[in-house]
Amino acid sequence: MGGKNEHTTFATRLGGIAAAVGSAVGFGNIWRFPYITGRDGGAAFLLIYIVAVLLLGIPMMIAEFSIGRSAHRNVVDAYRKAAPGTKWHWVGGLGLLVAVLILGFYTVLSGWTLRYTFVSLTGDLHGGEFLGFVSDTYQPLFWTLLAIFINASILLGGVQKGIERASNIMMPLLALLLLVLVANSATLDGFGEGVAFLFVPKWEDVTVQTFLDAIGQAFFSLSVAMGILVAYGSYLGDNTKIGKTAISVAALDTLVAILAGVVIFPACFTYQQEAGQGPGLMFETLPTVFEQMPGGWPLGAIFFLLITLAGLTSCMSIFEVPISYLQEEWHISRRRAVLVSSIYALAVGICCSLAMGAWSDFKLLLPTGHGWESYNLFDFLDNLTSRYMMPVCAILTSILVGWYLKKDFMHDAITNWRTDSGWYLRPLLILLRFVAPALILIIFVANLL
Ligand code: PHE
Repeated sequence: MGGKNEHTTFATRLGGIAAAVGSAVGFGNIWRFPYITGRDGGAAFLLIYIVAVLLLGIPMMIAEFSIGRSAHRNVVDAYRKAAPGTKWHWVGGLGLLVAVLILGFYTVLSGWTLRYTFVSLTGDLHGGEFLGFVSDTYQPLFWTLLAIFINASILLGGVQKGIERASNIMMPLLALLLLVLVANSATLDGFGEGVAFLFVPKWEDVTVQTFLDAIGQAFFSLSVAMGILVAYGSYLGDNTKIGKTAISVAALDTLVAILAGVVIFPACFTYQQEAGQGPGLMFETLPTVFEQMPGGWPLGAIFFLLITLAGLTSCMSIFEVPISYLQEEWHISRRRAVLVSSIYALAVGICCSLAMGAWSDFKLLLPTGHGWESYNLFDFLDNLTSRYMMPVCAILTSILVGWYLKKDFMHDAITNWRTDSGWYLRPLLILLRFVAPALILIIFVANLL
C-alpha cells in the first residue's frame, strides 16, 4: 500500500470497550428495551432476546469488528480491502448511508434528552408536556443544536483524546447513575411486582411478533449494520481479542438494558403507570412518575442525565462513521470532517425536528406488503433504515464473511493472525453462514407484511 496510513487506534483495550459499549448503550436500552419487554411478556421476551444476541448479535459484531480491524480504514475502504477489486465496498457504502440517515434524527432525540435533563435539574420536570414540546418550532431546534455542538466538540479531539477519553469518563458515570437509580428502585413499594414482571416469563404474551421484536432489538441495541462497528473495529489494536470484546460489549449492553428495566418497572407499578405503552414511556410516563415520587427532583435529573449520556456516546459513534470516511476518502482534516458532518446533521436535524410539528403534513412513503405507508420525515428515516436498509446491509455482510471470503479471513481476525486460540471458528461460521442470514431474512420479510 505504501503512503502514510494515518488511521489511529484506541489507546487501551478498555478504552475501546468503553467506546463500543458507549455506542451500544443508547435509547435502545433505556427506553426501547423496557417498553418492548413490558409489551411482549416480560422475562419471556428477555430470554428470547438473549438467544437473539447470542445467535445473531454477537456473530455479527465479530464480523463487523473483523472487517474494520483487518483494514484499519473507514467503513467503505474496509469492505474494499476485505474484497479488493469487487463491488463489496458498496455494502460499506450502504453502512455509511445508514449511519448518515440515522444521524439525521438521532441528534434530535439527543436534543430532547438534553431538554429533559435541563428541566429536571431546574426542578421543572412535568408529565404531559412532551407533545407540546416536540411540536414546537424553535425549542427543540435549540436543543438539537446544542446536542450537535457537544458531539462536535468531543469529536474534534479525535479518536483517543475525544471519543475514547469521553467514553472512559461517561461510561463509569453512567454505571454509577444507574446503580443509584436501582438502589432507589429497591425502596419503592412496587419493587417486588416490577422485578417479578421483568423476571417471571409470561409465555402467553409471546407471539410471532415477540421473536421479530427480539431480533430487531438485538440488532439495534448492539449497533449492528450501521457502519459503526466497522468504524470502531478499525480502531481496535491488532492484539485486541475481537471475540472477547464483542462478548463483553454485548454482555454489558444487555446488563444495562435489564437494569434499566429494574429502574423503570417498579416505578411504573408503584405509581400505577403502564410500562408497555410505547414510545411515550421515556418522555411522558416517567416524568409523571418522577413528579409523584419522593425525591423526584434529584432522581428525575439523574435519570435524564443517564439517558443523555447514553444518547451522547451513541450519537458520537454514528458521527464517527461519516467523519472517518470524509477524512480518509476526501483527504480532509478531522476538523473539516467534523464541521461538514455537523452542518449536515444540523440541516437534516432541523427538518426532522420540524417534521414533528410545523412540517408534520409533509409525508414520505415506504412500500410494504399491503401497500404504501406514509411517515413524517423523522419516522421515515427511522423506518427506512431499521426495516429496509439495515437488514440488507447485515445479510450482505454475513454473506461476505461467511461465504465469499475464505475461512482464513475470520480465522485470522479472531486469532489475531494465528497467535491465539480460535476454537470457536466453526460455530461462528455456521452462525454467519446459515443462522444469521436466515433470521435476518425472516424479519426483513415479516416487517414488510
Ligand atoms: N445501540 C444504540 C441504542 O441502543 C442504537 C444506536 C447507536 C443507534 C448508535 C444509532 C447509533 O440506542
